[in-house]
Amino acid sequence: MEKYIINGGNKLYGSVKIQTAKNSVLPILAAAVLTDAKVKILNVPQITDVKNMVKILSCLGCNAVYEDSNIIIDSSSAHCYEIPSALAHELRSSVFLLGSVISRFHKAKIAYPGGCDIGLRPVDLHLTGLKRLGVQITEKNGYILCECDKLSGNEIMLDCPSVGATENIMLAAVKAEGTTVIKNAAREPEIEDLQKFLNCIGAKVSGAGSGTIIVEGVKTLGGCEFLPIPDRIEAGTFIIATAMCGGEVCAEGVCPENISSLIHKLRENGCKIHIKNDKIIIENHRRLISVKTIETQPYPGFPTDLQAQITALCCVCGGNSIVTENLFETRFKYVPELKKMGADITVIDRNAFVRGVDRLKGADLVAHDLRGGAALVLAALAAEGRSGVVDIYHIDRGYGSFEYKLRKLGADIVRVTV
Ligand code: UD1
Repeated sequence: MEKYIINGGNKLYGSVKIQTAKNSVLPILAAAVLTDAKVKILNVPQITDVKNMVKILSCLGCNAVYEDSNIIIDSSSAHCYEIPSALAHELRSSVFLLGSVISRFHKAKIAYPGGCDIGLRPVDLHLTGLKRLGVQITEKNGYILCECDKLSGNEIMLDCPSVGATENIMLAAVKAEGTTVIKNAAREPEIEDLQKFLNCIGAKVSGAGSGTIIVEGVKTLGGCEFLPIPDRIEAGTFIIATAMCGGEVCAEGVCPENISSLIHKLRENGCKIHIKNDKIIIENHRRLISVKTIETQPYPGFPTDLQAQITALCCVCGGNSIVTENLFETRFKYVPELKKMGADITVIDRNAFVRGVDRLKGADLVAHDLRGGAALVLAALAAEGRSGVVDIYHIDRGYGSFEYKLRKLGADIVRVTV
């Protein structure tokens, strides 16, 4: 078992290169199943979610190989429509494969997907959308079996703008007969990136980034070389780390407009943030004032994937803050861990009421999920004394070379095997 040992108190200085977005790369890898031509995805992050997705592609019969930090996928040999249950449980994004596997084989079988344990994560919207395209769905013994004679375009209205359901329906619609219109679609930048990738291989998709996406079915698709967008959540995590620890850090290779909700919040709370093209420079030399209120929302609102990190920041600000989680039910599992460090937080329903303390103190901590785990690392970096964080495999799902990048900025963090 591996754990982090962190000696808190160091300020962070220097530059950090931001990885490509996990949440772009995963659906793009799923999309590679749609075409027989080779696709090359550039600069993929070295994280376990991506490695597991590549393993699933191999199980489907695709030839997926790493070439440095790029992945080349040749799906011409794909022959299997069943997503292996052990891997589906590891990775919730495996559900995105339903759309592309059905498109390819007119059949798909998957175990109910896993991923972060952050409350009920139903897939009803994915399934309703697929049904509207002509798919018959049987749910039995923990499996979802999808079958169809052909896929036909249709109008689909999502009850809520689910990122995964929007992406899955886009994937199923690309080679369907006729036109599909997805209304109340999610507007996340990663959806625009998926559209860009699909159009690069010859699909006809428009409207991503708005609430209505139009997919005109095409018969054949080709190959391409594609560089996904930068990871706005990784960038946000390093920015919040600097706000908590103090110092001056430049996050390089980012799309600043994709995290403007965070930038606005931090500026409101006293951080100096400069933007120069694809760089965000954050400078902070004093204790911050509280953010007061912050609510997670679908994009362009404040991302749920930065909720834990911003709550960790609130713990060391002057004054009180209220953080409201509107997307997932149990996304405060990290709170008892922060309390071990002396944080003053009360959770009632979807709200965390945080009173800032002068300083957190090092403690032995357990990561329960990906972003909550990252928040504990940030808290430990800002704390007085030594902390240990176990179950860091959660963090490895989404952050490549996390401790290496932090060490380069001056943090005292090491990974040890226990
Ligand atoms: C994606 C992101 C995840 C992020 C989340 C919200 C990926 C790989 N993951 O997850 O990092 O936290 O968006 O920005 O891109 N819902 C339903 N029924 C469904 C689908 C979703 O009720 O069929 C609900 C969920 O329970 C949740 C909300 O919709 O309350 C948002 O979920 P969704 O946008 O689907 O998140 P994911 O695609 O799972």
